[in-house]
Amino acid sequence: MQIYGIALEKGGVGKTSIAVNLAAAFSKVNLRVLLIDLDAQAHATSWLGVSPETVRPEESMLGIVQGRPLRSCVRPSSAGFDLLPAHPAMASLPVQVAGALNSGLFLLQDAIAQASTPAPPYDVVVLDLAPARGPVLATALSAMTRCIAPVQPEDLVLQSLRALTESVRAAQRVNPRLRGLSVLRNRYAPRSAGDQIYDATLRETYVGSLLQTILPVRAALRDAAGMRQTVFAYGGSDAPEVRALFLNLVDELITLDGGS
Ligand SMILES: Nc1ncnc2c1ncn2[C@@H]1O[C@H](COP(=O)(O)OP(=O)(O)O)[C@@H](O)[C@H]1O
Ligand SMILES: [Mg+2]
Repeated sequence: MQIYGIALEKGGVGKTSIAVNLAAAFSKVNLRVLLIDLDAQAHATSWLGVSPETVRPEESMLGIVQGRPLRSCVRPSSAGFDLLPAHPAMASLPVQVAGALNSGLFLLQDAIAQASTPAPPYDVVVLDLAPARGPVLATALSAMTRCIAPVQPEDLVLQSLRALTESVRAAQRVNPRLRGLSVLRNRYAPRSAGDQIYDATLRETYVGSLLQTILPVRAALRDAAGMRQTVFAYGGSDAPEVRALFLNLVDELITLDGGS
């Protein structure tokens, strides 16, 4: 089972857009996929057509903290994969996780492992993280097999990337299955002289971690969310190009990690 966490402390870089559409792309190649929404803003949950008001707090990650089995909280989504939804009460999740046994470090790892027996395991789990460091990121990193950071060539983004790199290194000490950090260039168009400098830094510093798939600015990625559809269901004119890019990304990740 591969567990991909989409993370970066900076907001608005494309974590949720990538989490939702990457989960959809993995399910398009017939893998069993679970998306876990770890952000109290519940954007991924809404995107998948589940209104956060219809979710009870204990059906979200808050239920996992209380010891509920993952399978009892997960629901099928209209996009063809399973969803552990988020709830606005997850604003208190960092405190709840930190207060759990062993600082909550293995909450997600244990919950995902328990969900694999006796039911068939998921092939892929995708975690959509909130733009924050702290206990929730730590428990997510303890469960991940690879962390994916969406980036643009900007100073604040690169600062967040450095911090995440440190967090990933620290997590590798408790999670030997965590292969490392992959950098996914999203909304990528280094145009200005400033952009070019940050782009050069990114290429030099993260040369071994850069994913080859690059996601440009595309209307389908912006508009599919409003239609509560993944790019695989959305009919916008540039949707086929975006679908192909996400399927490329899936191929790239399967080559790196294997499919299940
Ligand atoms: N490649 C892209 N092309 C166009 N719009 C994008 C792209 N990636 C993200 N967006 C838009 O940028 C905004 C922030 O993306 P989002 O996925 O919510 O980021 P995060 O989860 O990191 O906060 C959203 O409105 C989203 O639709
Ligand atoms: Mg988000």
